Amino acid sequence: MSDAIPIGVFDSGVGGLSIARCLQRELPSESFLYFADQKYSPYGSKSASWLEARTELVAQFLLERGCKALVVACNTATVNSISALREKIELPIVGVEPAIKPAALHSKAGVVGVLATAQTLRAESFCTLLDKFSGPVKLVTQACPELVSLVESANLHSEETIGALRSYIEPLLDLGADHIVLGCTHFSFLRESMARVIGGRAHILDAGTPVAAELKRQLGKFDLLNASCAPGKISFYSSSASSLAAKNMSLLWGSPIELLEAI
Ligand code: DGL
Repeated sequence: MSDAIPIGVFDSGVGGLSIARCLQRELPSESFLYFADQKYSPYGSKSASWLEARTELVAQFLLERGCKALVVACNTATVNSISALREKIELPIVGVEPAIKPAALHSKAGVVGVLATAQTLRAESFCTLLDKFSGPVKLVTQACPELVSLVESANLHSEETIGALRSYIEPLLDLGADHIVLGCTHFSFLRESMARVIGGRAHILDAGTPVAAELKRQLGKFDLLNASCAPGKISFYSSSASSLAAKNMSLLWGSPIELLEAI
């Protein structure tokens, strides 16, 4: 095991694990410290000012543990508070951007569906991103309030989950969408069930791979890459750790994890 200086990764809960998995794949010698803010999940129903204040506290917690860079593995926190974080913290901070650009470029139908939280859809920087790519392509957004708690409880394949996905995705397919962009990191865990609902009618795009590529680029630029070839490690914290939270997180991560309580 390496004792590399860790990279802090956070989300409102388990969604950012989908990003952490990509980070580990792309940067196997780096170590990570994952923080799930489950006491305050979901972020998608919080105000911009609340998110700004809370993400600063979470970032502070990660900095106090010596992190050399931060990944905001949450679309809602990225669009609402990453600019404020960057003003206060002088470390590389990488956020998540929904894959609207590639979807718009590749859409043959000229219709793209975007699934996200209500607070992401309200954020100014998200609206700017939509404006940039809409025009020749019609971008149809859909808030999905039920999905975050279904993923938090690792309820990925039940009839309840399929029903919720159907209610959000069918209207987009009816409008002709041939790409569905996942604008929330929790939703990546629902890809399999989404594919059942979509039945080959549209491509599903998430943002894990580009986030990992951007983190690698930033670490390289600031000479922060771990020089060792030894595999890195990952530790997990939650603001609401419990045996059930650890069990669900282990299920989603794919191996048993120890979950520590913090802030
Ligand atoms: N996973 C988050 C996102 O990407 C937050 C979901 C939530 O807590 O509402 O937006």
